Amino acid sequence: MTTIQVKDEWKAGAKLTADQYRDWYRRSVEDPEGFWAEHGKRVDWINPYTKVKNTSFAPGNVDIRWFEDGTLNVSANCLDRHLATRGDQTAILWEGDDPADSRAISYRELHGEVCRMANVLLANGVKKGDRVTIYMPMIPEAAVAMLASARIGAVHSVVFGGFSPDALAGRLEGAQSSVLITADEGLRGGRKVPLKKNADRACEIAAQAGQAVSTMLVVRRTGGDVAWQDGRDVWWHEAREEVSADCSPAEMGAEDPLFILYTSGSTGKPKGVLHTSGGYLVYASMTHEYVFDYRDGEIYWCTADVGWVTGHSYIVYGPLANGATTLMFEGVPNYPDPSRFWQVVDKHKVNIFYTAPTAIRALMGAGDDKVTSTSRASLRVLGSVGEPINPEAWTWYYRVVGEERCPVVDTWWQTETGGILITPLPGAIDLKPGSATLPFFGVQPQLVDNEGEVIEGEGAGNLCITDSWPGQMRTVYGDHERFEQTYFSTYRDKYFTGDGARRDADGYWWITGRVDDVLNVSGHRMGTAEVESALVSHPKVSEAAVVGYPHDLKGQGIYCYVTLMEGESETEELRKELVAHVRNEIGPIASPDKIQFAPGLPKTRSGKIMRRILRKIAEDDFGALGDTSTLADPGVVEDLVEHRQNRK
Ligand code: WTA
Repeated sequence: MTTIQVKDEWKAGAKLTADQYRDWYRRSVEDPEGFWAEHGKRVDWINPYTKVKNTSFAPGNVDIRWFEDGTLNVSANCLDRHLATRGDQTAILWEGDDPADSRAISYRELHGEVCRMANVLLANGVKKGDRVTIYMPMIPEAAVAMLASARIGAVHSVVFGGFSPDALAGRLEGAQSSVLITADEGLRGGRKVPLKKNADRACEIAAQAGQAVSTMLVVRRTGGDVAWQDGRDVWWHEAREEVSADCSPAEMGAEDPLFILYTSGSTGKPKGVLHTSGGYLVYASMTHEYVFDYRDGEIYWCTADVGWVTGHSYIVYGPLANGATTLMFEGVPNYPDPSRFWQVVDKHKVNIFYTAPTAIRALMGAGDDKVTSTSRASLRVLGSVGEPINPEAWTWYYRVVGEERCPVVDTWWQTETGGILITPLPGAIDLKPGSATLPFFGVQPQLVDNEGEVIEGEGAGNLCITDSWPGQMRTVYGDHERFEQTYFSTYRDKYFTGDGARRDADGYWWITGRVDDVLNVSGHRMGTAEVESALVSHPKVSEAAVVGYPHDLKGQGIYCYVTLMEGESETEELRKELVAHVRNEIGPIASPDKIQFAPGLPKTRSGKIMRRILRKIAEDDFGALGDTSTLADPGVVEDLVEHRQNRK
């Protein structure tokens, strides 16, 4: 495997050298208290901490606290503290879906907007600890809403704007949230997204389940027609005129919740991952600075949506805490054409660019000339996140997009980890295409086999982390037991990531993907259980099993085995109906790629579906089905193989 050594140009001006990385890393794991006591100071504390780390992964007693006696306000760290030195610097550089649309918002303006929205929330009765749900397109007001919530000590729960009314309702209920911030419509790739309409429907569904929304704050984006419920609905552009542009930030404990973000697991409904204030901000800002080698005055662009954790940590909190200029893009990579990313890079002179492998693969397919027709001379660092990046895509990104001038940082992390855990550092760590390379400071990865035995040296297995880092999630909102059960019960005294990994002879980490029943479709995380429950909620479906299979563009595709109710016929129309049904229940990101009608599913005598067999058939690799003798009815396998939908 090729190694790309750190180039001299990358070393010049870089934050850290290779030796410094090694020294800092050693100190961070040998003396975490000392290391984080020092680096915790990157944040402005109202009342400084005296305690640094108080964490336990012990069964029945998982308890994670960082800087626990310190107090701070996250929004003040992202705004107020920059006003004296960079009030007129652009904080958010917004690029609209339409290439003619952009806006630069300075730190001073952003501060004013956040204070106003915070005052509107207060005027509507929102208090410390209340949950504010945010269902927004990619417009600056999405960040304003998050920071406004943080300013008054409320807890935000951002729901991706591509989710369906049902999915939004479930998250309103889960967070017991009675305040919702949305927009009239979103705009993506020239098409309108009916956010207010979806939000209205979600409120009806949530109300039936006992969760009433009393305030819906609506941002006007497109000016499209929307229904209006007097007494509940409030226009942002009207309300902001009624309040002051000053709002003093609430003093919050380091361990007070900052946000909840719902994410899929291998079982049940999505869980509310809870992050708190102090440790999260220290970790998000520190990783943003070192992983991207962020330098004052640079333009930084992360293409994620704020509905995902990447948008939280690396569009909003990390960059703004560091006083960066963060670019926020409303549109999609291929609108109006597949040069759009690179045109935006040239237009705004972007220095650091962070995107997902699925976008890289799609743009790679559009042809090199779509890239080479642009300059990209401003680019200095390229990043990747969300799924394993195949070496071909990595190499294309490095060669064609970055012209071998820019290091590529493949950053591995999760919603649960709050920030990047395994990653190269530009100027310090040699690169290998497809490898996330080495752990960030304080992160101690470990490989274990299925029996929980530790694998030393070179090898492959399940990826665990043996000690806490400040950005780690603290609990599942309202269900600490589920938190312990999900992450700390598989392997004793370790955080289990759900990912598989390989460590090579140089100690480099290669993430191989999920080892549980979680799919990663175009970088979007999804539980097979969620898609299954959407399918069986259709009246014609009696049973469903969903697995992932390798997909050239999406990374993984969604393969569904569906057993119909007695008497229903297996038609092409029904296939389409089921696809539409799942999109309706969850959202377009969950669209099934393949649906196979199956008269029966392979089950053990105790009734457990043997997913291993279903995965093999979906991969068109049915020669190696392994032992099927424990099946209740081995005959079903033949039928499944015969009618498989993914023939290569
Ligand atoms: C996968 C996104 C390989 C992984 C930040 C993880 C990756 C899941 C990488 C988390 C990467 C993320 N290489 N796999 N660089 N980054 N993943 O919670 O399977 O949306 O467990 O967080 O994405 O997805 P999530």
